[in-house]
Amino acid sequence: MEEKKIFQWKKELEKRLVTFLNSFEPKILQEAISYYPLQEGKRIRPLLVCAVSSAYGGDVQDAIVVGCAIELIHNYSLVHDDLPSMDNDYYRRGKPTCHVVYGEDVALLAGDALLTLAFEILSDVKNFQTLDSERLLLIINIISKKAGAKGMVGGQVMDIRRLGDLKEISLKKTAQLFSACFLAGGVIAKKEDMLSELEDVGLSFGMLFQMCDDYKDKDGFYSLLGEKLKDEINVKKEEVISKLKSLNLWTEEMEYILRSFL
Ligand code: IPE
Ligand code: IPE
Ligand code: MG
Ligand code: MG
Repeated sequence: MEEKKIFQWKKELEKRLVTFLNSFEPKILQEAISYYPLQEGKRIRPLLVCAVSSAYGGDVQDAIVVGCAIELIHNYSLVHDDLPSMDNDYYRRGKPTCHVVYGEDVALLAGDALLTLAFEILSDVKNFQTLDSERLLLIINIISKKAGAKGMVGGQVMDIRRLGDLKEISLKKTAQLFSACFLAGGVIAKKEDMLSELEDVGLSFGMLFQMCDDYKDKDGFYSLLGEKLKDEINVKKEEVISKLKSLNLWTEEMEYILRSFL
């Protein structure tokens, strides 16, 4: 039987991650850079880029490369998020955190290197088969905005300093990067006329993800709503599925991605 598309994408993107994360020096930097990205993450963000691009007939290889860059940004954010000056966490994905293994100094720099590597990959036209430089530039612009001060970094500051309400914080620290995945998938498939709808469904998807994550960790929205969060999640889930359906994005692959965290 033919292997499901989603498993092929996952295998392929993990292979690409290994090649992108190769050949750095010194050895401690090489190890610290690859430590998080080569662990068993769920790969939700890169798979979303693939699912959106593929649903609209875009090139999946190009989606995988853009997905790798977003996955590196996601992993940089986790390395920094775990640092003693941020969440001071000792474990992630059941293993010691990056700074516990390599030291705070190297972990901080490994995070910097992951972020810059993402843009090195995105800005090299040779990594892509169908994407022209104008579309690449648009994708780079979208991802920088969503990952930066107006998006994820801004949300992290609000989270760590307890500024603003939880909805706004989650929207920025998590949902904006999810919306970048939907937007990038759309641009790869040349659907620039759909950017505002894709941004909207991406933000809703990201909020649903964060609500589920809080339910599992019993923090964030769970601290606010308790078990009522389960009902809110169900309402949000229906909203997300209905938006995905109306945009012709409710595919077998999208359903798999949603199930991976619900
Ligand atoms: C965890 O994200 C961090 C948040 C944004 C809440 P994921 O649950 O997607 O992390 P991995 O990569 O699958 O471990
Ligand atoms: C992580 O948020 C979100 C980002 C790194 C942007 P959290 O601190 O809430 O997530 P976990 O629990 O460490 O994965
Ligand atoms: Mg945090
Ligand atoms: Mg944390």
